[in-house]
Parts: sequence; structure tokens; C-alpha cells
Amino acid sequence: MLSQKIVDRINLQINREMYSAYLYMGMSAKMANDGYRGIATWMMTQYHEEMFHAMKLYAYLQSQGAQPVLAAIDAPDFSASTIKEVFVATLKHEQFVTASIRELLELALAEKDYATENLVRWYVDEQVEEEQNVLDILQTIDVMGEGKQGMFMLNVELGKRKPTIALDFTSMA
Ligand code: FEO
Repeated sequence: MLSQKIVDRINLQINREMYSAYLYMGMSAKMANDGYRGIATWMMTQYHEEMFHAMKLYAYLQSQGAQPVLAAIDAPDFSASTIKEVFVATLKHEQFVTASIRELLELALAEKDYATENLVRWYVDEQVEEEQNVLDILQTIDVMGEGKQGMFMLNVELGKRKPTIALDFTSMA
């Protein structure tokens, strides 16, 4: 059985993951509007990853007999006029999520809630990967420069991204 503190904190994390999904959807819309459909695809794939992160927590609460409580999701908050700025904003956001996951892990440890600890450690690993992905893209931008040719190549490359997770969440209901 989960403590109310843990349930509340997991519900907050669900909201943050849903916000992440919304943020990536907003970034995808901007990239598509600017003519970078490959980068828009990368962002929309990330949207699905974030929905999976939220749904994994949602399903965990239900598996423990707790009810997910959904709060309002803020409008995506980012301003970027270049592709590099979009990915800098992405990295900043992922660093915020990493800190949020760390906070949840610390709470699970303080509560001696080892089941939640196990679950949250999956997110710890996931955040390492998410930050690494964005750092790689930023490094590629720095190597190629922000000229049109470089950004065109980046657009083609990022457009190849495929989802690695199940997109059908009905089995989690
Ligand atoms: Fe679910 Fe990108 O953090």
C-alpha cells in the first residue's frame, strides 16, 4: 500500500510527464510550421515517449489500489527562434524532469517504499538517456554549424526516429 505522500507525489509526476508530452507537441507544431518536418517527427516521437512515462506511473498507482488524480496541464512554455534554441530549451526541460525524478526517488527512500523505489529507478535510467539524446543533437549542431545545409541534414536525420514504446495505452486502463 502506498502512503498518501507517495500517491500525491506520483500524481504530480504524472502531471509533469503530461506537460512534457504537451511541450514536445508544441515544439513539433513549431518545427512543422517552420518547414522542418523531420525535426517535427522527432518531437512527436518524444511526445509519445512522454505519454508512456505518464501512463506507466498511472498504471502503477492503479496496480497499488490508488486512484490517479489528474490536474490541469499548463500551456507549453518555450520561446525559440532557432533550432539550436529549441534543443537548448529541450535540454533545460529534461534537466528539470531529472531533478523531479530525483526528488521522487528521495521521497520513496525516505518512506522506505521499495516498490516505488524500483519503479522510479527505471525513470532515473530513462532520464540519463533523454539528456544524452539531446546533448548529442546539440553537439551535432555545434559541429555542423547552424547554416541551412547543416539544418537540412539534421532535419533528415532526426526524421528517421521511430517510437520504441507501445503507443496503445488501452491495455493500461
Ligand atoms: Fe519523461 Fe522527458 O521526461
